[in-house]
Amino acid sequence: MSTLPAALPVALPCLGEEEAVAAAEVLASGWVTQGPKVLAFEQAFARLTGAPHACAVSSCTTALHLALLAAGVKPGDVVVTVSHTFIATANAIRACGAEPVFVDIDPETLNMCPEALRACLAQDFIPRDGALYYADAARFNGPETLLGRLKPPIGRLAAVLVVHQVGMPADLERILPQAKALGIPVLEDAACALGSQIRLPGRDFEYIGTPHGLSASFSFHPRKVLTTGDGGMLTTADPDQDRLFRLLRQHGMSIPDAQRHNASSVVFEEYLVTGHNYRLTDIQAGIGLVQLGRLEALLAQRRELAAAYSELLAALPGVRTQRQGPDMRSNWQSYVATLPAGADLKTVMEALLRQGISTRRGIMCCHLEPPYSPYWPQGRLPASEAARDHGIILPLHHKMTTADCQRVVAALGQALLDQGREASS
Ligand SMILES: Cc1ncc(COP(=O)(O)O)c(C=O)c1O
Repeated sequence: MSTLPAALPVALPCLGEEEAVAAAEVLASGWVTQGPKVLAFEQAFARLTGAPHACAVSSCTTALHLALLAAGVKPGDVVVTVSHTFIATANAIRACGAEPVFVDIDPETLNMCPEALRACLAQDFIPRDGALYYADAARFNGPETLLGRLKPPIGRLAAVLVVHQVGMPADLERILPQAKALGIPVLEDAACALGSQIRLPGRDFEYIGTPHGLSASFSFHPRKVLTTGDGGMLTTADPDQDRLFRLLRQHGMSIPDAQRHNASSVVFEEYLVTGHNYRLTDIQAGIGLVQLGRLEALLAQRRELAAAYSELLAALPGVRTQRQGPDMRSNWQSYVATLPAGADLKTVMEALLRQGISTRRGIMCCHLEPPYSPYWPQGRLPASEAARDHGIILPLHHKMTTADCQRVVAALGQALLDQGREASS
């Protein structure tokens, strides 16, 4: 018999018999991809988030690709975003033939720093022919980038891509006006933010996805609050954007096959633009509909666990937690703590693992990974780099109680103490 305490995974999807029944119903119906269940899932998602339009796709990565294309991002452009995010954010920009321009984060919120954005827009771009161009675009000259192979002018600022990191709403109140003043669209990477809310001046709390920028992109990967296995959703208030998403997700086809199937006469489709296959299946959408019904209960539980963590962690010297401003309500998709600068993250994680507690390294920095590091020397984004080096994701899921949070924080406190003792002996 093992003497180890019960293993505590870092995340756990909440899937049950209802999801299995929903998937089986779709299989029995005979229509398994982008059909009636996808439509019903889109409508339910739009109702929930308050978005006029919701378009289902195969993942958040593909959602981001379509959001960028529909916003007019073209080969040779640049998009301002953060490096301290999952690499899909930056990769989606590169998939358009554009390059990310990274700005630093606020170390307390782990989201885009509005002052860093202001400095970047004011100092790193020059106006030309009614647009803004990245002054140093010539340095994006390498095998991974398209910019080095294109003739000038290159580096037009096409969009600002804001990430609501691990579910914590970004400071849209101070970011949106900056982009608006320049006529630049704001796109929201809301991969982790289903159920999160924000209150903008003169408004009540609204769901991320309402949307506040031109469009918002969501993920249904199993690490997210709700899952369909894989999957994504795009929300927008702009009917033209929604039309483009629907065209691009299905090969540029003028009349979707579900519509042709239901037509009473023969209709021929056309292929109007170069599109993609980014469809969500009806099997996934059937599961998604059941998952949406679980959202409020899951959110309430996550918020209770996060509040317990924040209170307990406040007693650990030098440990910081992600700041939630008074106008933000995170869904706490992940709970990130930042360890004191002297602590060794890997040793702490190993000590917790020996106690049966699974953790993950904090959020990555895209600019330190091989596809981006040739253009972004280390040291350029100090707050992002420090957050990566000292961030730890603690377990948070529906099978936990506040007693589990106590156990995790006690083990973390002990690991930090042991490390401190070893360092001073
Ligand atoms: C901020 C962010 N953007 C994009 C993605 C990509 O989502 P997906 O796995 O659905 O493509 C993720 C996934 O974790 C993410 O965290």
